Amino acid sequence: MAATAIGLDIGTSNIKVVELRWRGQKLQLLSGASVQTQIEVLDNGELADVEQVGRVLGELFRMVGLRKRPLIVGITAENVIIRRLRMPVMPEEELREALRWEAKKFVPFNVNDINDVVVDYIPIMDVDTGFVKTHQELFVVAVARKCIESYVSALSHTGLNPDVIDVSVLAPPQALPRVATTCYMDIGRGCTGIVIVSDFGVQVVRTLPWGSERFTRLLAQSLDMSLSGAEEYKRDKLELLEESGEDSSSLRSIEGLNELLYELSDEILQTVKYYRSRRHEDVSSTDVKEIILSGGGSQIKGLSSWLARSLSIPVTLGDPFVDIEIPDSTDFREELFYSAPIYTCAVGLAKRGLDLTTKRGRYS
Ligand SMILES: Nc1ncnc2c1ncn2[C@@H]1O[C@H](COP(=O)(O)OP(=O)(O)OP(=O)(O)O)[C@@H](O)[C@H]1O
Ligand SMILES: [Mg+2]
Repeated sequence: MAATAIGLDIGTSNIKVVELRWRGQKLQLLSGASVQTQIEVLDNGELADVEQVGRVLGELFRMVGLRKRPLIVGITAENVIIRRLRMPVMPEEELREALRWEAKKFVPFNVNDINDVVVDYIPIMDVDTGFVKTHQELFVVAVARKCIESYVSALSHTGLNPDVIDVSVLAPPQALPRVATTCYMDIGRGCTGIVIVSDFGVQVVRTLPWGSERFTRLLAQSLDMSLSGAEEYKRDKLELLEESGEDSSSLRSIEGLNELLYELSDEILQTVKYYRSRRHEDVSSTDVKEIILSGGGSQIKGLSSWLARSLSIPVTLGDPFVDIEIPDSTDFREELFYSAPIYTCAVGLAKRGLDLTTKRGRYS
């Protein structure tokens, strides 16, 4: 049977699901859908209302008639702490134990017992210097155990069990093709993930505790609208640039909009500068060559051009379906025409599921 996998991205405003399979050498979409919702998470990342999320998941799975495995579930970056650490080289088991204690120092939620935190890590590949290494660089990923349990419990309402719980913030590099060192920015409702990937794998991971909802709130305030009116305005009417590339009249007249955009571009710039500061080699060929946007918040019209102008780095809107065959029969086609970027993490997670079944590397 062909390898098949499901990516499920549980975001705070949309839950997205994508089912992929290999068809010969080509990836094919089997099904995909999303449901809009409002998920609230507690301080430790636990779902505030497990039953509500369970109901929404049930609705989503009924829509697409899910049946295949493995199921890779991505949880929103708001719930996950990722830190880059330098550790002495040591055997795998000792390293895992040491990282659990390291994680205890930086998790913001209250931890009485180290077993309350689930800790994993991603190694960072080094440039090979030819010397025996005494230290290694890695990303430590820490999530409150209660958070994971609440996701598993919500899924159990649908009769499904996740095979892997992953973090959505790491999924865009897997979903979107890369030709050189690339900065991925996924703008969700409540948070924004920034990941830089070079030929040596993931180099920087950052999550900003704000996302596209800040634009909605700003529009509501500046234009004296309800939040739902501002949401509609943001999707349908807001256009940042004129065709000539000049600032649009909205951009010139909406108070605070320029500042918010500069805040966003400054976060990217700081992340790129941080990446540059960590590089051992000094060759421009490994510098960030492109920024790829994804997530619903990337769809503000003119955002990629505005950022490219501000940062002087090419910025594109990611299309996670670019190398995926979409059967003519699927109703999903039209949905994709309008909102492909919101499925980026779900596609990345499904691809990871396929990698697991075909035993390929994570960022191959
Ligand atoms: N066409 C559009 N134009 C502008 N903004 C949009 C558009 N479509 C969706 N959005 C915004 O994108 C956000 C939802 O995107 P997405 O589904 O990626 O978020 P999420 O994954 O649920 O959130 P998070 O990752 O923060 O938990 C909302 O804030 C919404 O306002
Ligand atoms: Mg998201």
